[in-house]
Amino acid sequence: MLDLKRQYRALHKELLDAVGHVLETQQFILGEPVAAFERAVCAQLGVGYALGCSSGTDALWLALAAAGIAPGQAVITTPFSFFASVSCILRAGATAILADIDPSTFNLSPRAVEAVLDGAQGGAVGAVLPVHLYGQCADWEAFSRIGKERGLKLIEDAAQAWGAEWQGTKAGALGDAAAFSFYPTKNLSAAGDAGMVTTQSEEIAERGRMLRQHGMRRRYYHDEVGWNTRMDGFQGAILEVKLKHIEGWNEARRAVAERYDALFAAAGLADAGPYPAHGLVLPHEVAGSRHVWHQYVIRTARRDALREFLTSRKIGSEVYYPVPLHLQEALKGLGYGEGSFPEAERAAGEVLALPIFPELREDEQEIVVGAIAEFLS
Ligand SMILES: Cc1ncc(COP(=O)(O)O)c(C=O)c1O
Repeated sequence: MLDLKRQYRALHKELLDAVGHVLETQQFILGEPVAAFERAVCAQLGVGYALGCSSGTDALWLALAAAGIAPGQAVITTPFSFFASVSCILRAGATAILADIDPSTFNLSPRAVEAVLDGAQGGAVGAVLPVHLYGQCADWEAFSRIGKERGLKLIEDAAQAWGAEWQGTKAGALGDAAAFSFYPTKNLSAAGDAGMVTTQSEEIAERGRMLRQHGMRRRYYHDEVGWNTRMDGFQGAILEVKLKHIEGWNEARRAVAERYDALFAAAGLADAGPYPAHGLVLPHEVAGSRHVWHQYVIRTARRDALREFLTSRKIGSEVYYPVPLHLQEALKGLGYGEGSFPEAERAAGEVLALPIFPELREDEQEIVVGAIAEFLS
């Protein structure tokens, strides 16, 4: 599914030098290694401020808290994402409200969000938290209109979308604040847990820096109850090295996705339409957006049997995500049940992520597509 060692082999000298420099300077928490990475991020994404955090989950919580989301408010997000997209809202003390997805992109549906806003719970909503799932931006034209019209904060869950763009603007620069994850499997990855908040707002950045260090503006004087969500110096140094390569890696991912499209087309499996006769739906890039293919996700009603077949051929695949968030045991308290979000439920039963990473070879892709064609025939 993913071979991280191929990337490491190409970079190991640069990475060891960076790690060695942190050991020489003994700047293990925040400090210059993280500050240098934050400055480089601002330049690359076109944002005013970047705050290194200890994980993507912490970054999501920090983005919400710094943007002023607090108990008494509600935040709308998607039921089809990683658990943290909802748990961060609860950690911020707010109420999580879910809305269904657009089945053609798997991203939060703006129409479903507007239906919530027009309903009984609409008045309590302070923010919308769209997720740029699989590396493709949520429909930001619609969300920025909704945010403006209704006076709502927009918080991007950009954990899977480093380098993705909407109409030329980078993910991370679209909303009031955004959160990234540098979990080792992400497009831009640390050597452990790490994350980041980005924002164009000086006020959110200043509040975020305070909350990231236990609510301190002055050492040992605590203005608010924050948390410890600081990035390690080692992670900052490693990420600064990798940041110089991410554009090339994302281009390589795009080439891998194009190759999948071409191989499926050559196998006669690339018909358009939501339910083609052969039963396989391929992913696509929305016009005007730049997909960075964190995942290449196909869908088929025969997903589980296909996955078993691929496993029997020693071909990696993964299901992101098998259980939508409203049906998770831990989130029963949200008050939803089976049938609440039909598109998310259907997607959870049909999606299958295929191997995709910058160093994936064409001959390996041919094996994957060949096996899928054999299964479907
Ligand atoms: C969509 C999404 N949100 C949030 C997170 C949380 O990030 P982390 O694992 O770095 O805490 C992840 C990554 O796992 C994710 O994929």
